[in-house]
Amino acid sequence: MAQSPDDHYITETSEIQAETESILIKHLPVDPDSPLPLQRAQHLQFLVRNLVQGFPSRYTSQDASQPWLLYWTLQSFSVMGVGMDPDNKQRAINTILAWQHPDGGFGGGPGQAPHLLPTYASVCALAIVGHPGPGGGWDQIDREKLYTFFMSLKQPDGSFLVSQGAEVDVRGTYCLLVTAYLLDILTPELLEGTPAFVASCQTYEGGFSSASQPYFCASVDDGAPQLLDDIRPPLGEAHGGYTFCALASWIMLQPYLHLQDPATQQPSVDYKRLLRWLVQMQGSETELGGFRGRTNKLVDGCYSWWVGGCFALLASQGVGGGHGQDADPTMTTHEDEEWEDVDEPVWNKVALQRYILCAAQHPSAGLRDKPPKNADSYHTLYCLAGLSAAQHNVYPSPARRAQVDQAWQSSSDSPNQELRKASFVEALCWSEEEGTARVLGGQVNRVNATHPVFNLTMTHTEGIMSHFYKQTVPK
Ligand code: FPP
Repeated sequence: MAQSPDDHYITETSEIQAETESILIKHLPVDPDSPLPLQRAQHLQFLVRNLVQGFPSRYTSQDASQPWLLYWTLQSFSVMGVGMDPDNKQRAINTILAWQHPDGGFGGGPGQAPHLLPTYASVCALAIVGHPGPGGGWDQIDREKLYTFFMSLKQPDGSFLVSQGAEVDVRGTYCLLVTAYLLDILTPELLEGTPAFVASCQTYEGGFSSASQPYFCASVDDGAPQLLDDIRPPLGEAHGGYTFCALASWIMLQPYLHLQDPATQQPSVDYKRLLRWLVQMQGSETELGGFRGRTNKLVDGCYSWWVGGCFALLASQGVGGGHGQDADPTMTTHEDEEWEDVDEPVWNKVALQRYILCAAQHPSAGLRDKPPKNADSYHTLYCLAGLSAAQHNVYPSPARRAQVDQAWQSSSDSPNQELRKASFVEALCWSEEEGTARVLGGQVNRVNATHPVFNLTMTHTEGIMSHFYKQTVPK
């Protein structure tokens, strides 16, 4: 099979690209429809071993990632459909609660400063193993202090520092929004300016970068620098990881945007450019259809979720996936162009499953970036979540939306009722289109569907949200 075409100008990049393709192609099975089966038992053992051993000593820099290690493990279990016994769940809950900071938020380990990223990982891990009541983890989250912590990170341009004295980046925005959604602490005050910040991270390529920068120009009067509010160039290049965070944040911000005065101009995201960029991140046949995270870089199993997961998010806006009913026509800068409502996916879902099963599964256990690399818990989760995105068709169903909307009971006299309700409905209106899952290699390879915004199963999302919003979720 011919390698990807290039311009015959040999560079370090073109050499490593050619080498990667030559390795990957050897992993193509003789019968492309019969990939290696998903080695569930081995992956489980691998995850448990990693969790019990903790990070090896050469990874001391990862000490602040303890909540991540636990979340990657627990969510991998959930995607593979494996439950946990009550004792282990309780150990996990106690461990997570020890990461909660007395001033609110969660740190990367006991006694560590609170940070948005481990806060997301801790709260998601609690969504999986926790429950209401004493010792169950959910009611021990100090939501008031968490909200104060979130507000203390808020910047005038709507972005958030990831922790006190640290940088701004859209991963932090995503982590904060997921946490605020799950725990019912969303307010207009928290979200003000955030859509404009997220939209400003979209680059000329169509994907999103990590942040955007304030733009100054010399004043015409005295030459002093003046902040121009409406010009905020993205900082750095489009990247799959940031693109997922920005797009999922953008979807979470829709209820807030819909509640704004229609007469005021709202920020917008160019969906068409985004879709084109996402599609171009999928590797060729000689890359087995894996995804890369940025232009001219190598495919890597983790982008199966960071990029592969974006298609369901975009489809929820009526773009590229055929579920046009909920399209929001105000959210594209190309209002003059017509969208074609295609029912066929614009990306190759079968090819991605092949990449994950044949190249990303390590021959002994765990999943990885690409051969011949080692497996790790991060890649194990994001390959499995990507496999889920490639198998299932999860989208916001109008029928489900109506059902959740109808079941909503006004539960408090909170001034944020409208936003709370709209966000709750938006989060729980996703469902899987019956009979549309396409599993390469048969049912043995089937994994559970995962919520396209939160990367938790539907059951775990519903469980924690119904508790905090004090709502019964209709079945
Ligand atoms: C580049 O790595 C990777 C980054 C700059 C960060 C990517 C961001 C994510 C994966 C999203 C994380 C999301 C949350 C919710 C915390 P690289 O240069 O090694 O890889 P590359 O060559 O593939 O770009």
